[in-house]
Amino acid sequence: MRLVQHKKEAYWFYYFLSNFYDKLVNPLFWTVKMREESLDIGKLDSSNLKVIDVGSGTGFTTQGIVARVPAKNVTCVDQSDMQQAKAKKKEDLQDCKFLIGDAENIPFPESTFDRYVSAGSIEYWPDPQRGVDEAFRVIKPGGTALLIGPIEPGNPIGEFFARTWMLFPPEKDYFKWYEAAGFENIRFVHVEPHWFTPGKSHYGIAIAGDKPMDATPKGPREAPIITPEEPMGFGRSILMFFRVLIGSLAGFIFIPIALVGFLVNIGGQKDVRPDLRETLNTEQIIVLVILGALILWGLVSLFT
Ligand SMILES: C[S@@+](CC[C@H](N)C(=O)[O-])C[C@H]1O[C@@H](n2cnc3c(N)ncnc32)[C@H](O)[C@@H]1O
Repeated sequence: MRLVQHKKEAYWFYYFLSNFYDKLVNPLFWTVKMREESLDIGKLDSSNLKVIDVGSGTGFTTQGIVARVPAKNVTCVDQSDMQQAKAKKKEDLQDCKFLIGDAENIPFPESTFDRYVSAGSIEYWPDPQRGVDEAFRVIKPGGTALLIGPIEPGNPIGEFFARTWMLFPPEKDYFKWYEAAGFENIRFVHVEPHWFTPGKSHYGIAIAGDKPMDATPKGPREAPIITPEEPMGFGRSILMFFRVLIGSLAGFIFIPIALVGFLVNIGGQKDVRPDLRETLNTEQIIVLVILGALILWGLVSLFT
């Protein structure tokens, strides 16, 4: 498993990241255009639908959902109170229900929702198949589950940092998990920010599938719907500290890469609908200026 692909590690990773997630991170890696293209295959096509958004975080994907389904029908589940606190402040999400919970042990009975959505969360799940099985379990027969996640980078350097950080599965794994869970009518779309140039591999995938109408009910679970607290001794705490530290450093490498990619491809959004185009915000510009100053300083020290 990758360094931040553990529940406690993911919790602490987001404890800090939540402070600048919406401004610095999310707009680079998960754009409005990607979100809309993904939601389009999730059959969010009726105002009566009951939807669960798992790993809902600061609510960026939820904002796309509530543009299609009334917010009062949407339940947001995330294991991070810090991330969820940001979502709760968003005006358009005021009518959503919020719950702290685990994607691999969703705190709802079988066949509760019409739609399941999870964006950018699977990369932190220690047992992705279990998370996908949970998606299948909580939706009603005939319901649809939509999952969005990254794909392993096609180049060795990207692969090294990605693997150090969190789960970037091969594309085929998404289909394997969906098929094993029991979904039918599996469909997908590749998604990527405009600054990303697909090479050997794609950037991310949105995959959706339907629960068959005749799916056999699994019945109530034997275990209670409570995620047991992992014991945190001294050794485990130290391990967690270094996993979060090194995993975060590996992950943060992608921020300057994306920012520079954004600049290089500044004209690359000509084909994107004007309301879906991304622009750099103040925080991102500050990081770029600092980055530029550091590079300049490095070059000057090298040659003087
Ligand atoms: C990259 S963020 C995505 C947030 C949101 N879906 C969005 O589109 O912006 C990943 C989220 O998954 C949550 N997460 C990670 N592991 C989880 C788990 N096992 N159960 C529930 N949420 C989890 C994190 O706390 C974080 O808020």
